[in-house]
Amino acid sequence: MPERVPTHLAIIMDGNGRWANERGLPRVAGHRAGTENLRRILTACTDYGIKILTIYAFSTENWGRPKAEVRGLMNILEMVIDRELAELHANGVQIRHLGQLEGLTPHLQRKIRHALDLTRHNDRLILNVAFNYGGRDEVVQAVRRIVADGIPAEEIDETLLSYYMYSGGLPDPDLVVRTSGEMRLSNFLIWQAAYAEYYTTPVYWPDFDEEELRKALLHYGQRERRFGLVTQT
Ligand code: FPP
Repeated sequence: MPERVPTHLAIIMDGNGRWANERGLPRVAGHRAGTENLRRILTACTDYGIKILTIYAFSTENWGRPKAEVRGLMNILEMVIDRELAELHANGVQIRHLGQLEGLTPHLQRKIRHALDLTRHNDRLILNVAFNYGGRDEVVQAVRRIVADGIPAEEIDETLLSYYMYSGGLPDPDLVVRTSGEMRLSNFLIWQAAYAEYYTTPVYWPDFDEEELRKALLHYGQRERRFGLVTQT
């Protein structure tokens, strides 16, 4: 058991496409396998007592992927809501959305709103689903809302800006995990992850099982977080 687990874990679930390619399957099959994996990782996170899990499910850049793949990812979100919502709710999971609803079909928007509404008072684990999300876009939207609210320039500080992010009110991620060996943040939580620890593994997301999660958490437990300060001796 890791001696110290993050309060807030964020995951870039990468490598679904390569996982599928290596098996001669369409990319969407990789995303479906990734969705199955999400189930077990979510359960493991609850068991570890992790309080917040943020997943990168669809970025603002992902609209540029082939139409069939974009449609596949939209369908997966809808299917997850249809099939898993009742169980997530029963297990005390609060679902939040990071990103813009605008741009999604009205039907999907309604489903998402319903999921957020139904689970809003749950507090065992907060699941932030970054869907139609981009970190730079998030900063732009925050600034727009600050201006629209007529907040004077001298009142704008880091706390206020954090509050206006999609994740407003939640603590920043302690650990960002990226699967499939890439070493990029890819526009994910660029504001919130300023001091997060970072862990990457060559394992593709559909294969990132409980044991892989345990390794990531052990790694995190050994890191010393200094937040720009020096070690006390
Ligand atoms: C990155 O792999 C993965 C994504 C762009 C989508 C992740 C989505 C899921 C796992 C579905 C679960 C989400 C919901 C809606 C709750 P990639 O396709 O970039 O893989 P590659 O780099 O190997 O091509």
